Amino acid sequence: MGKKKVYIGTNTKMYKNSSETVQYLRRLRALTEDTAGEAGLFVIPSFTSLPAASQILRGSNIRLGAQNMCWEEEGQFTGEISPGMLKEFSVEIAEIGHSERRHVFRETDEEEARKVCTAVRHGFTALLCVGETLEQRNYGISDEVLSIQLKKGLSLTGSENCGRLMIAYEPVWAIGTAGIPASEKYVEERHRKIREVLEGLFGEAGGQIPLLYGGSVNAENAVPLALQPHIDGLFIGRSAWDADNFDKIIRSVLGHV
Ligand code: PGA
Repeated sequence: MGKKKVYIGTNTKMYKNSSETVQYLRRLRALTEDTAGEAGLFVIPSFTSLPAASQILRGSNIRLGAQNMCWEEEGQFTGEISPGMLKEFSVEIAEIGHSERRHVFRETDEEEARKVCTAVRHGFTALLCVGETLEQRNYGISDEVLSIQLKKGLSLTGSENCGRLMIAYEPVWAIGTAGIPASEKYVEERHRKIREVLEGLFGEAGGQIPLLYGGSVNAENAVPLALQPHIDGLFIGRSAWDADNFDKIIRSVLGHV
């Protein structure tokens, strides 16, 4: 089996305070130290954990991300966090447009576009999340919805920045405790279409943007998903929040791709 670079990360959402994150990352770092470079590992903890997390992850092969970022550098934006504030703590990845940001906090594609643009301009990797709702899937318009989210979300970003982009496909109906995991066949089909959209937007450079899948990934479905030709990685919630479980998933994926 030809080795492909696989990206595996987690977003801890509004779970784990700073001391819990510290415990988690210490354990995860120790467990995954020997996988150096084999997987593109990353963790996206709460904002208040970032200072401690950046200390623990210094010199490790786990990259640090933030769950959101404002499109402006500073100003009258109460409750927001700026690129410079995240830079201070060695954050490398800016997660943009997670399903909960879009659906609970009503963020729009236009806002995601501005955030992606600001993130890459400041040297972050922008991890843009896209995904259709159950209703949209039932209408048979998943690919149209994904195409709109990508075309709008990436509208302020040029092909020269493709090296600073990652996409996470996370169908809304597959995420969280009430989520139903998508089958690897379904995800592979969507990823194929997403790749077409990215190549349409950016040409050859669009072919290189890592495409991750997220939504109820667990120890059982991680390998079958990761083996699909158009799936470049996994973006995991609940199943990754225990460092030992996460390490098991990482190892089983690395053992198969
Ligand atoms: P889940 O979360 O793995 O707990 O479904 C995925 C996500 O929201 O990114």
